[in-house]
Amino acid sequence: MEKRATIVGSGHYLPPKVVTNNDLAAMFPTSDEWITQRTGIRERRFIEESPTGASDLALPAAKMAIEQAGRDIKDVDAIIFATLSPDINFPGSGCFLGHKLGLPGVPALDIRNQCSGFIYGLSVADAWIRSGMYRNVLVCGAEVHSTGLDFSERGRDVAVLFGDGAGVALVGEATGDSKGICALELHADGSGAEDLCLLAPMSRNIPRLTQEMFDEGLHYPRMNGRQVFRWATQKMPEVAMSVLAKAGLTIDDIDLFVPHQANMRINQMVAGKLGIADEKVVHNIQRYGNTTAATIPIGISESWREGKLGPGSKVLTVAFGAGFTWAGGVIEF
Ligand code: ACO
Repeated sequence: MEKRATIVGSGHYLPPKVVTNNDLAAMFPTSDEWITQRTGIRERRFIEESPTGASDLALPAAKMAIEQAGRDIKDVDAIIFATLSPDINFPGSGCFLGHKLGLPGVPALDIRNQCSGFIYGLSVADAWIRSGMYRNVLVCGAEVHSTGLDFSERGRDVAVLFGDGAGVALVGEATGDSKGICALELHADGSGAEDLCLLAPMSRNIPRLTQEMFDEGLHYPRMNGRQVFRWATQKMPEVAMSVLAKAGLTIDDIDLFVPHQANMRINQMVAGKLGIADEKVVHNIQRYGNTTAATIPIGISESWREGKLGPGSKVLTVAFGAGFTWAGGVIEF
């Protein structure tokens, strides 16, 4: 019989330090009202001490996922690590995580697909498992944004959005009646690459980093917020409908919708276009801000523990982010 893959365990970790909108308002001109009205975010988590990399946040989340699946760390035979904020420029955070888990020789693949990174990672794990190449694949999404934001008036449009955190799924073979990962769909369009990006240091320039770049703040993320908003609210519903059709399902079949958490207003608009009831939509942006590659696995892990999903649940997930990249998936647990 053809192998099917599914999420067999999930975990999440958020650093304990809570940073409220008022804490940010003490650093640069903004307000709780401005941030809440436009984004839904009330607070986010930041790491507190150096060194704390994306792999450090992913470590407890990975252990939680492995434990929930009833597996042992030694059962993990591949690691996929989605992040736009790796511990250091290279090597990838997956290598650091494998070392911290005590898994010498186990392959580690970092992927650079920003907010869509988790679903892209899931597609690789799905293919590996269905082909029989690997049996237990950790798919991690983890970010440390707080060390790379511009906490001045210049960077306030971006700085208020992001938080640190990690979510992990252990992907294994689906057993019994569960269809597991029913359908996945991935997209990219580089025409929007510089509407949401971090430019410097840039290897395309001689030298990679100049004093001018530094003074201009090119080492901080920059965003054309309105353009991102427009694209996200168009592409997320599109990919949702398309991936549902591939799975042979309709929106009414879906028990839980786990969208990427970029902005509460984007998600409300997407849910409205899809006609899905708010009680089926996962929102955690109020508490964590945008944790980029981590938002979806955090949402899955929290929902699983809160009993919002369990055996037989059909989950729709979609993401949109820098690249631009966007993706969708349907998973039957
Ligand atoms: N606090 C107070 N004022 C601010 C802040 C802030 N943090 N940031 C910007 N402003 C000011 C601007 O300077 C501007 O002032 P001006 O009118 O005097 O020039 C004013 O607020 C309005 O700025 P806009 O950029 O027009 O604000 P907008 O209503 O578009 O909201 C936002 C900005 C929230 C970023 C919006 O464009 C948006 O939601 N975009 C989607 C982007 C997003 O969610 N990105 C997440 C990361 S990408 C991803 O995960 C998909």
